[in-house]
Amino acid sequence: MSLPAFPRAAVRAAICLAVPLACLSLPAVADGDGQWHGGANVYEKLCGHCHEAGVGPQIKGRQLPAQYITAVVRHGFRAMPAFPASFIDENALQQVAEYISTATAAPAKP
Ligand code: HEC
Repeated sequence: MSLPAFPRAAVRAAICLAVPLACLSLPAVADGDGQWHGGANVYEKLCGHCHEAGVGPQIKGRQLPAQYITAVVRHGFRAMPAFPASFIDENALQQVAEYISTATAAPAKP
């Protein structure tokens, strides 16, 4: 484990406070090996808990600039908590921002 445990726990606690339901299913990180595995993985394991669940707005398919996305993630935006580098490293953040900015919208759920 290269990442310190405390900040992640703090972020997790912040998420639990903000969105109690998301807390129940939120994994500590990625696939349990302490690494993120590309943009789609970060989106699914982190952003999707809110942004595919109606907690946060639709962000895929809007061609949002990658720079805007990384700024929102690092600094937070109104109801969205900030995620520090100890939680999502610069490389993984860049990948998820590019993934989101170029992704097509998720298909409508039945
Ligand atoms: C704990 C829930 C939660 C998580 C996890 C989360 N978000 Fe958000 N996000 C929100 C909410 C809620 C908003 C809307 C904030 C507002 O308008 O008050 C938001 C807003 C945003 C916006 C601005 C959307 C717009 O319409 O301009 C972007 C970009 C964004 N999130 C990206 C991300 C990315 C990338 C991730 C994953 C790294 C992520 N979010 C993870 C809850 C979350």
